[in-house]
Amino acid sequence: MAGAAEILLSKRVQEMVLNGEQPPELYISRDGSEGVDVCSASTPVPIVDISFFSSSVPSDVQGEELQKLRSILSTWGCFQAIGHGIPTSFLDEVRQVGREFFEQPMGEKKKYAKGVNEFAGYGADPVPEEGQFLDWSDRLFLDVYPEDLKQAIYWPENPKSFRKILEEYTVKIRKVTEVISRGMAKSLQLQENCFLDHFGERATLQARFNYYSCCQRPEVVLGLKPHSDSSGYTLILQDDVQGLQILKHQQWVTVPTISNAILVLMGDQMQIMTNGIFKSPVHRVLSNSTRERLSVAMFYTPEPDKDIGPEDSLIREDKPRLFKKVRNYASTHLEYYQRGMRAIHVAEI
Ligand code: OGA
Ligand code: NI
Repeated sequence: MAGAAEILLSKRVQEMVLNGEQPPELYISRDGSEGVDVCSASTPVPIVDISFFSSSVPSDVQGEELQKLRSILSTWGCFQAIGHGIPTSFLDEVRQVGREFFEQPMGEKKKYAKGVNEFAGYGADPVPEEGQFLDWSDRLFLDVYPEDLKQAIYWPENPKSFRKILEEYTVKIRKVTEVISRGMAKSLQLQENCFLDHFGERATLQARFNYYSCCQRPEVVLGLKPHSDSSGYTLILQDDVQGLQILKHQQWVTVPTISNAILVLMGDQMQIMTNGIFKSPVHRVLSNSTRERLSVAMFYTPEPDKDIGPEDSLIREDKPRLFKKVRNYASTHLEYYQRGMRAIHVAEI
């Protein structure tokens, strides 16, 4: 089986679509009974204007916004960030270079092909364990911060502006993470640099450009299987094609596309650091039969060799410690992910 997966993984989903091929067996993850209904729930994913978290905002106004943030992250575990200061025209450029990369001929993209069991580069996820399904999507995964972790061989030469735009986006996203990390700390009455210190100066940022090709049978595949992220938190830029869904109260809720918003989604490590107050939501991506979808996920993750555990002051008599300290959680997460499972129970007491 692993052999078959490797062969399949050597061919990109986009190639199969261009060749008019039906999804092979290993991609068929559903029986079709769920359909491809992407209608949204009555309460959409909340929108948060993060400009309220800057220190120049009067504390009474800010207090109310912080309370709202805390409540959203304790229930949804994600929000659509606006007021982040990145112009929509620049977000459009990021989406554009991502799209242009995938629209190039296969030969050009394969110059950046990843090793089957590596992460960095162009291709699909490492081969999962036997019995697991493959995602109906292709990716370009790049380490973007700290600078010395960048692997230049995987950074596309074309489109010409790709590198510059991604570098600029990284700088901007780092600033956004500072604002969000401070806001989240303040919302929990913690010292404002608390999470920034826990993440560390060499907290990593990794970019994943996800390209979801159309599928003639969208009801039997998934663009991305259900999972929670191993990151601290993830910042997702969507285009105007819906597909991303969050699991809330056992129901899949579609995340609306908003051109100037960045979806901020808690990963397992924020759930651990907040002693379970913030939730790391399970999410997935549906395929559709008419339009390709592009997203750019930026994973913001604490330095891998740091001990990550619940913040001391969030452990109280009425809220006992839920998690132990973990180190290099990403590798534990991957081990379970490859078996189609969540990993957070490993950190539970
Ligand atoms: C991810 C992810 C969502 C999307 O890359 O982990 O959840 O919309 N992406 O592509
Ligand atoms: Ni994810």
